Amino acid sequence: PERPYVIDEMISAKSIAARVEALCRDITGEFKGTDKLVVVGLLRGSFVFIADLVRELDLPVEVDFLEASSYGNATESSREVRILKDLRGEIAGRDVLVVEDIVDTGHTLAHVIQLLRSRHPARLKTIALLDKPSRREAPVKADWTGFEIPDEFVVGYGIDYAQRNRNLPYIGKVRFTE
Ligand code: PRP
Ligand code: MN
Ligand code: MG
Repeated sequence: PERPYVIDEMISAKSIAARVEALCRDITGEFKGTDKLVVVGLLRGSFVFIADLVRELDLPVEVDFLEASSYGNATESSREVRILKDLRGEIAGRDVLVVEDIVDTGHTLAHVIQLLRSRHPARLKTIALLDKPSRREAPVKADWTGFEIPDEFVVGYGIDYAQRNRNLPYIGKVRFTE
């Protein structure tokens, strides 16, 4: 039983593609010469972004996935993040790029960074397509951000509302009509 809503386009597929291209030029420069890069997508929201990213990187890459889920608890600001699906591969001594669709409170990314650091990668970098700095609770910022957005309910390009709309090619804003 969802409230009826419509989706207003906020960031077009074209703008996303242009931004991905620019980010990838930068990332390719940062990791130039590496032969040990693992690009880690955080399921499920990052699956579209990571697919576009890795195809635009001019580097040898491996791809792996991690699934985390966060629960609110009594204090809200110290959310518990659980790992539902761990990486398949070892990352010790590897260069790692963590790919997130959106950083909201920051608990998911903060927890994943802490977990992956404990495995001693050579380098650990992070990228998020979207950042909502006004919602931050955990002090974390991705090394690369696609777009900073206001506190709106967004969907598309991997991001869901009640598991739907991940397949939209653009980022849209949910607007409830009742
Ligand atoms: C969403 C989103 C980020 C996270 C951001 O994932 O994809 O991973 O929340 O929120 P935070 O900064 O407040 O932690 P979600 O847990 O909904 O899972 P999903 O990726 O499978 O949709
Ligand atoms: Mn997610
Ligand atoms: Mg979600």
